[in-house]
Amino acid sequence: MVRPILLSSVALLAPAVVHAQYSQVKEYLGSSFFDDWNFYNNYDNLTSGNVFYVSSSTAGKDQLAYINDAGNAIMRVDNTTKVAVGGNRNSVRISTKDHFTVGSLWITDMVHVPYGCSVWPAFWSSAVDWPSGGEIDTFEGVNQVTMNQMALHTANGCTHSPNAVQTSTLVNSTDCSTAANGNQGCVVTTPTTSSYGAGFAADGGGMFVTEFASSGISIWFFNASRSSIPSVLQGNASSVDTSSLGTPTANWPSSNCTIAEFFQPQALVFDITLCGEFAGNGNVFSETCTGVCYDDWVIGSPSNYDNAYFEVQYVRVYGQSGELTVISGAPRSLGARTGLLLLVATAVGILFAL
Ligand SMILES: *[C@@H]1O[C@H](CO)[C@@H](O)[C@H](O)[C@H]1NC(C)=O
Ligand SMILES: *[C@@H]1O[C@H](CO)[C@@H](O)[C@H](O)[C@H]1NC(C)=O
Ligand SMILES: *[C@@H]1O[C@H](CO)[C@@H](O)[C@H](O)[C@H]1NC(C)=O
Ligand SMILES: *[C@@H]1O[C@H](CO)[C@@H](O)[C@H](O)[C@H]1NC(C)=O
Ligand SMILES: *[C@@H]1O[C@H](CO)[C@@H](O)[C@H](O)[C@H]1NC(C)=O
Ligand SMILES: *[C@@H]1O[C@H](CO)[C@@H](O)[C@H](O)[C@H]1NC(C)=O
Repeated sequence: MVRPILLSSVALLAPAVVHAQYSQVKEYLGSSFFDDWNFYNNYDNLTSGNVFYVSSSTAGKDQLAYINDAGNAIMRVDNTTKVAVGGNRNSVRISTKDHFTVGSLWITDMVHVPYGCSVWPAFWSSAVDWPSGGEIDTFEGVNQVTMNQMALHTANGCTHSPNAVQTSTLVNSTDCSTAANGNQGCVVTTPTTSSYGAGFAADGGGMFVTEFASSGISIWFFNASRSSIPSVLQGNASSVDTSSLGTPTANWPSSNCTIAEFFQPQALVFDITLCGEFAGNGNVFSETCTGVCYDDWVIGSPSNYDNAYFEVQYVRVYGQSGELTVISGAPRSLGARTGLLLLVATAVGILFAL
């Protein structure tokens, strides 16, 4: 994706809307992309997928996570090994070492996302305590679907408001509680067929923006065409005014979900699992694929996974002026939200003059 640099439009931005102005606090980019993430190094004991999420060293050695010639981060499923019956296929799950507080925004710009039968990738965030600290799913798809789905997962009492200001009319479920509907979450689908899968790659990828604000959580999707991406996000935006992004694709206002009550600082996560509770669910699987998820795909031809990779240009995180945005390292598990600041080992206060 080649995008014109429009520095003037960045410089001319006036903070017209209070609390909508964010400045960059962290970026994951180029040869240092993987430096500040933890590799899971365990089998998928979270969603029952048929993968082993490799260590950092295995990921490097087997080129399952690396920087390609274009300078982009690749995370992928092993597509060279014939997996024995009963075994797991190697894949990648990484989460940021830092956590980001309410009052932050993150952008990921991707040119390819993993897809294919049995494949279940996501770019999302989670608190140390789950579900009490909340989960925000920015990007998720399974098998051969064509549209991205977005969701929140929380403790009881958070719902998607009928008054949400969003462009998507595809609201799949409204109760965000992990205890409701088999932990489906409150799901909104991105209503464009190039927001996932082969269509996403064919269009040159796209950009997802997630705003984690006390007034609500919003997600924007922009395809890679120049007309789609707001000028403020073209080039290397050092600040973002959400009022310049237009109406979000999905929005969960605090009126039906008090963000500060249901969400704690979030770590960002990329993962690719196979089959498991969602992609491998019989009804879901048969909607876009044939055969048996594990038998015919995971232990089938390794080339089933030639498209099971993320290619990420960057991830950038932004914070609000004067707010505590980045919590370095993993905060210890929190018994009570009020204990948060006492338990944080180190914290970085971000003060930007607008
Ligand atoms: C999953 O495995 C990791 C690493 O061994 C462990 O720390 C974690 O507690 C396990 N989680 C579950 C839900 O079993
Ligand atoms: C959500 O709704 C859309 C539109 O009806 C549908 O295409 C999609 O499959 C649904 N997603 C889920 C996870 O049910
Ligand atoms: C990309 O987004 C633009 C602006 O929203 C839209 O006009 C165009 O149809 C989209 N392209 C594709 C392939 O969806
Ligand atoms: C953005 O920043 C990166 C790293 O600092 C640099 O390599 C790249 O050329 C910049 N891109 C633009 C469009 O300025
Ligand atoms: C969600 O918002 C609607 C409209 O404001 C309101 O009628 C409803 O009671 C709210 N539901 C919850 C669970 O807060
Ligand atoms: C594995 O997939 C990559 C693309 O992710 C492709 O370039 C490569 O040729 C594939 N390897 C094999 C052995 O098919």
